[in-house]
Amino acid sequence: MKNTKSHDFFRYLAPIYDTVARIASFGRYDSMRRSLVAQAGINSGDRILDLATGTGYLSEILDGCEIVGADISLHMVNQARKKTDAAFVLSDAHALPFASDSFDATVCSFALHEMGDPKIVISEMFRVVKPGGTVAVMDVVLQSKATKKMLLFVYHVFVEMLTANYMHSDDLMDSFKNADEVMCTASMVGLIAQISGKKK
Ligand SMILES: C[S@@+](CC[C@H](N)C(=O)[O-])C[C@H]1O[C@@H](n2cnc3c(N)ncnc32)[C@H](O)[C@@H]1O
Repeated sequence: MKNTKSHDFFRYLAPIYDTVARIASFGRYDSMRRSLVAQAGINSGDRILDLATGTGYLSEILDGCEIVGADISLHMVNQARKKTDAAFVLSDAHALPFASDSFDATVCSFALHEMGDPKIVISEMFRVVKPGGTVAVMDVVLQSKATKKMLLFVYHVFVEMLTANYMHSDDLMDSFKNADEVMCTASMVGLIAQISGKKK
């Protein structure tokens, strides 16, 4: 499938994804995702799209919101459905089956590196969010310094098993150039970028 790098990979990973992702995050699985939620400025009662929801972790922690989780992998969505009664929708992030201006915020964690064209995905996130609503993404990004390139290489080989296609954080920032209140922060010695902006 052209629009995802690793559709088959998630067929096998889905049952053990939560455990593997927690190990690969060096104990920061929850805190990193909570940090993205905090940056998105989500309020109780908001309608939120968790794009590439995977096993639906955000639907577990966002109490009081209407969560829609979208993902291309039926295997991941089936795991998510075991956890909460949030709405989980099978869909490709490059062509979302949602009306324009229909969410208060959209978030996407650790999935852009799976996508065929992350810029189209972010433009879809902006399309479906209401004016004044937030788009927030978090992912592993390309590195310029030799030591960090080595760290990324180790992560790429042993965690992503050579399937990922990372972007530079400046290129991700380009997709937010028309947004208001753009924020970009880094974590895990700069390997991870977290970017958010409000739709004009
Ligand atoms: C590494 S998991 C991240 C899951 C979750 N967001 C998290 O933070 O743990 C990447 C997810 O992206 C999904 N994905 C990959 N390509 C996609 C696409 N084109 N459209 C929607 N989801 C996609 C995969 O099926 C997988 O569930």
